[in-house]
Amino acid sequence: MHTQVGIIGGGPAGLLLGHLLHLKGIDSVILERRDHEYVIDRVRAGVLEQFTADLMTQTGVGARLHQIGMRHDSVYLSFGGRRHLVPLSELSGGKAIYVYGQNEVVKDLMDARIATGRPLHYEVSDVSVYDIDTTRPLIRYHAGGAQHELTCDFIAGCDGFHGICRPALGDAVTFYDKTYPFGWLGILAEAAPSSEALVYTCHERGFALFSMRSPKITRLYFQVPPDEDINKWPDDAIWDEMLKRMTTKDGWKPNVGPVLNKNVTAMRSFVTEPMCAGRLYLAGDAAHIVPPTGAKGLNLAAADVLLLARAFTEFYKYSNSGLLNNYSETALQRVWRAQRFSWWMTQTLHLSPEGNAFDFKRQLTDLDYITSSKAAMTSLAENYVGLPMDIEF
Ligand code: APR
Ligand code: PHB
Repeated sequence: MHTQVGIIGGGPAGLLLGHLLHLKGIDSVILERRDHEYVIDRVRAGVLEQFTADLMTQTGVGARLHQIGMRHDSVYLSFGGRRHLVPLSELSGGKAIYVYGQNEVVKDLMDARIATGRPLHYEVSDVSVYDIDTTRPLIRYHAGGAQHELTCDFIAGCDGFHGICRPALGDAVTFYDKTYPFGWLGILAEAAPSSEALVYTCHERGFALFSMRSPKITRLYFQVPPDEDINKWPDDAIWDEMLKRMTTKDGWKPNVGPVLNKNVTAMRSFVTEPMCAGRLYLAGDAAHIVPPTGAKGLNLAAADVLLLARAFTEFYKYSNSGLLNNYSETALQRVWRAQRFSWWMTQTLHLSPEGNAFDFKRQLTDLDYITSSKAAMTSLAENYVGLPMDIEF
C-alpha cells in the first residue's frame, strides 16, 4: 500500500490534517491506536480561538459549531472576591473565543472523513516508522490480525504526547521542558452555567476555573497537587472546595449538580525543536504541550496542521519544498508565543507551593494592573483570542 501522507494519530491534529489535505486532493491514510468511541468520549479541552473556528467554518466542518458552540466575547478574571470583566472582542478588533468541546470537534472531523471514503483505521497497534531520511518513508502496523506496510511520500506524526513519532526523530532534536508543582482536578457537572463568561479565579486556596459545555452542563476545575488521587475527593468535598474558591462577594457562584465525570491532570510545558526530521513532521501534542490555563492546546494543533497542509499543497502543486523546509521554524514561532502566554497565565493565577506571601501579593498586583490598564488588558485579550493566523491555504 502507498499513500502521499501517512498520518499517525486520529485526534484533532490528525483528523484536521486529513481533512485539509482531502480538500486539496492529496491522499492520506489515518492510523489510530484506540477505538472510535474512545477517541470521541475522551473528555478534553473546549475552547477554540477565532482562527480555529473560522478554519472549521471555511473548510465545511463548522455547521454544528455554529449550532451548539457558544461564542464568548469576554472572560472574567476573579481575585480579591471580585470578578473583573475582560472584554475580549472589544479589545481585539472583534475576535472572540468559542466554547465547543474537543470531542465535538473530533466528531465533526470524523464525519467529514467518513464522508470522503478515505482511509481512517482504528485499533491499529505496534505502529513503527522507518526510512524517514529517504523519499519513501515506511509505516508498519498491525490491524485486524495482520501486519501491514504503508509506504508514504511523507509521514505526519499526530500521535499526541505519548506517541511513537517524537522518539523516531532521532538525536538531532532538543526538548524544552517545564513541569509545574500542581495539576487540575476537573469535573463535568449536570448544572446550568451560572455565568455567561468563563471565570478564571486566583484565590488564596489556589486556582479555580469556571467553564461550560452546554446550557445544561458546567465544566469546573481547581488546582491540586500534580499526583493527587481523585479517590480522595468525594463529590461533596469537590463542591465544597469549588464554592470556597469561586464564590465572590456579590454572591456569584457556580450552580451545583450531579458530577458526571471527574479526573486529575498534571500540567507541563514541553517543546520539541525542530518539529521534524527527514520526511517525518510532528504536529500538535506530539511536538508540544502547554498547560491548559491559556486554552491553547487544541488551537496550536490546528495551527500546526494548517501550516503543514499548506506546505504539502505547495509541494504537490509546484514541486516546491520551501514551506516544508520552513515548517518547523514557522510553527515554533507561534508555539513559543503560546508557551509564553500559557506559562504566564499559569504562574499568575496558581498558588505555587514554592512561593510565599510576597509572590501571592505580586500575583494579585499583576491581576489588578491587567484589569485596570487598557494596554495590559489588550495584551491579554489579543493572546487569549489567538494571535493573527492566515487561514488561506
Ligand atoms: N499509533 C496510532 N495512534 C496513536 C499512537 C500510536 N502509536 N499513539 C497515540 N495515538 C493516538 C491517540 O490515541 C490519540 O487519539 O494519537 C491521537 C493523538 O491525539 P491527541 O492526544 O488529542 O493530540 P492532538 O491530535 O495533537 O490534539 C491536541 O489534544 O491533549 C489535547 O490539549 C490538547 O487539545 C489539544 C489536543
Ligand atoms: C474547558 O472548558 O475545558 C477549559 C476552558 C478554559 C481553559 C481550559 C479548559 O483555559
